This record gives sequence, C-alpha cells and structure tokens, in this order.
Amino acid sequence: MTHQEFWNDLYRKASPASSGAPGLALAQFTGPLAAGHALELGCARGDDAVWLARQGWTVTATDISTVALGYAEENARRAGVAHRLSFEAHDLAVSFPKGRCDLVTASFLHSPQDWPRAKVLAQAAEAVSDAGHLLIVEHASRAPWSWAPETTRYPTAEDTLASLRLPDDMWQRLCVCQIARRASGPDGQEATVTDNIIFLQRLAGAET
Ligand SMILES: C[S@@+](CC[C@H](N)C(=O)[O-])C[C@H]1O[C@@H](n2cnc3c(N)ncnc32)[C@H](O)[C@@H]1O
Repeated sequence: MTHQEFWNDLYRKASPASSGAPGLALAQFTGPLAAGHALELGCARGDDAVWLARQGWTVTATDISTVALGYAEENARRAGVAHRLSFEAHDLAVSFPKGRCDLVTASFLHSPQDWPRAKVLAQAAEAVSDAGHLLIVEHASRAPWSWAPETTRYPTAEDTLASLRLPDDMWQRLCVCQIARRASGPDGQEATVTDNIIFLQRLAGAET
C-alpha cells in the first residue's frame, strides 16, 4: 500500500465534515498577524485552511490524501470561502508547492510511515517569505487513542527546531515551547496532551 492509499483509506472511513474550528495554536499564534498568502501542509479536511480564509488569508492547502482534499474543498465551499483557497495534492516527501508565502503552517504533520519529516519541515521554512512566519505544531505526548506505539519518544520543540538546521541569525524565535491542552478522541474520550510549538519569523532581508 502506498502512503497515499494509506491516508485515502483512513479518510474514506472518516466523516467528511469539518470540525468547524481551527487548531487552538493556529488561532492563538496567527490570529494577530495581518492576512496575506498562507501555505498549509497536511490540511486534512481543511479546518485550519477554512479558518485562515475566513480571517482574510488566501490559502494554498496541501495534503497527500486526495480524499481529504475533496472533503476540504467541499468544506471551503460550504463556508463560502472557496474563492480564497486552492488545494494541491502533494506527497511532501516527493514534491512541494512552488513559491514563497507570508505564513507557512504545519499542524500535526505526522505519519506512521517512514518519511523525511525533518526535510519537509526544512522546506517549509524555505517557503517562508521575507518577514513571514513559520508555525509548526506537533505532538509532544501520546494521546491514549493515538496510533503511535506506546514506546514512542517525542522530540522537544528545541529538538525539532534543531532538525531544521536554520541559521540562527536569519530567524526570530517567537515561541519555541510546549503547551498542554485538553483533547478529545474519536469516541469522545478526553485527555490532557502536550504539543510542541515552533513559531518563527524570518528576519526581513534574510535569505537562506
Ligand atoms: C495527523 S493528520 C493532521 C491533520 C491536520 N493538519 C490537523 O491539524 O488536524 C496528518 C495529515 O498529514 C497528511 N500527510 C501525511 N503524510 C503526508 C505527506 N507525505 N505529504 C503530505 N501530506 C501528508 C495526512 O493525509 C493527514 O491529513
């Protein structure tokens, strides 16, 4: 089974409906930014992309799953913001959207498959335009309902940032930290989980 088949299978079995709400960290960290052009990596059903579009951003939203992208397009249409969004299917290990954006966001861009996540996140940083922002939100602990093995060791936010090998003098660290939140599982279970936040701004005039 290819990586795309894996994710398409998973989304075929899931509800196509949007949660109707963005990720908490996305709303918290990007809410104060002036809207521009955003790139979202691993957009799933488009919850975050639709929210960004509602805030006035134009958004390129990508995912490996064509099924998820179909759901996301429909959710954008229902929300009345389809004109602000474009959707692109990419296996980010193989191809990456062209151009630079004011905001590049990757929330929970995890996969049970073996794939070059650090390389993809480094490409995400390269895609940030002058004075633009990069937001990475990732699991820092295992939710009880997670597909991740119980033995999974999670990186710290500093570990993930270091894996991107970004030149320190070209980026401002706005938040490199861990936060706790209450999360709900697929069957309504609740747990407190932690997330890593890596929120950076490329310094104006800095070229990598
Ligand atoms: C755990 S989900 C997170 C979805 C969403 N961003 C969120 O915050 O809930 C990971 C998403 O990344 C996508 N994905 C996994 N591997 C990918 C790859 N190699 N290229 C592009 N997208 C990928 C999956 O299809 C899935 O929608």
